[in-house]
Amino acid sequence: MYLPHRNRTLRRTQSIRDIAAETVLTPNDFMLPVFITEGKNNVEEISSMPGYFRRSLDETVKEVKEIWQLGIKAVNTYVKVDDKLKDNTGKEAWNPNGLMQQAIKAIKDAVPEMIIMTDVALDPYSQYGHDGIVDIKSGYILNDETVEALTKMGLSHAEAGADFLAPSDMMDGRIGALRKALEENGYTGVGIMSYAAKYASCFYGPFRDALDSAPGFGDKKTYQMNYANRREAINEALKDMAEGADIVMVKPAMAYLDIIREVKNAVTIPVSAYQVSGEYAMIKAAAQHGWIDEQKAIIESLTAIKRAGADLISTYFGKDAAKIL
Ligand code: PBG
Repeated sequence: MYLPHRNRTLRRTQSIRDIAAETVLTPNDFMLPVFITEGKNNVEEISSMPGYFRRSLDETVKEVKEIWQLGIKAVNTYVKVDDKLKDNTGKEAWNPNGLMQQAIKAIKDAVPEMIIMTDVALDPYSQYGHDGIVDIKSGYILNDETVEALTKMGLSHAEAGADFLAPSDMMDGRIGALRKALEENGYTGVGIMSYAAKYASCFYGPFRDALDSAPGFGDKKTYQMNYANRREAINEALKDMAEGADIVMVKPAMAYLDIIREVKNAVTIPVSAYQVSGEYAMIKAAAQHGWIDEQKAIIESLTAIKRAGADLISTYFGKDAAKIL
């Protein structure tokens, strides 16, 4: 048979496949979520995230040193606060001595070069487990009041030394409000990574276990996006870029590769993607049963997310992936 071109030529050996690879992962692609809790010497495994842990501050610092050693340059910080500190204003969120603020300082002290991206949303502080302030009568999440609270929260993170604020709440106008507050208060070097296209997804279940932050009533569909929608994601990303975001995120990742690509094509700033807790749990569970090869699943899924257009990936597999690479 005569063929002018044989596609398999570029797949024939590992060396050829390596030089022909269009997408190559490096530890610079990863951000690692860290879950911080009260106490000392405290390391608790999250039951729905086998192999992933909540840690007290002292243990978090040790962990962040290890993360840095592996070549990972950014962490996403989340806190689990005591029920006693939760209310419907979220005011603990901007307590200058709160757990998040302490964590930012402790990590900066220990590993100054590590990029700290803080979660900005009220759910860990909300007695109702919602990302914003609840209108008690209607159950609706109040937008503008919440943005005001998020602004105080974001400023307190900047004050503590955060490198990026990462609002994950999906209120309207919060990127512009945060940017304005940062400028007005002299935090001109602090970036914003917006969770721009964040879908109302069942894949966040294990994360809500990790932070004890599941909504006490209803769901998050009046602020997080309907997963049926694609153009809405482009709209969200473009608006957040215009309001002053430095990076826009798509979340979750694996079931949203088309969205990552759409957003990548639409914006002129870096795009990140979040391989969320449920995606981690699915891979872990299948691997524990011996149904898939865990290491291969990690690298294949992360390569696919990068190929789709993600410049940065938040992933619970960051350490594993860095070790495999
Ligand atoms: C909350 C927040 C969530 C995640 C990140 N920030 C959960 C939610 O919106 O309910 C999910 C991350 C994950 O599942 O890994 N603002």
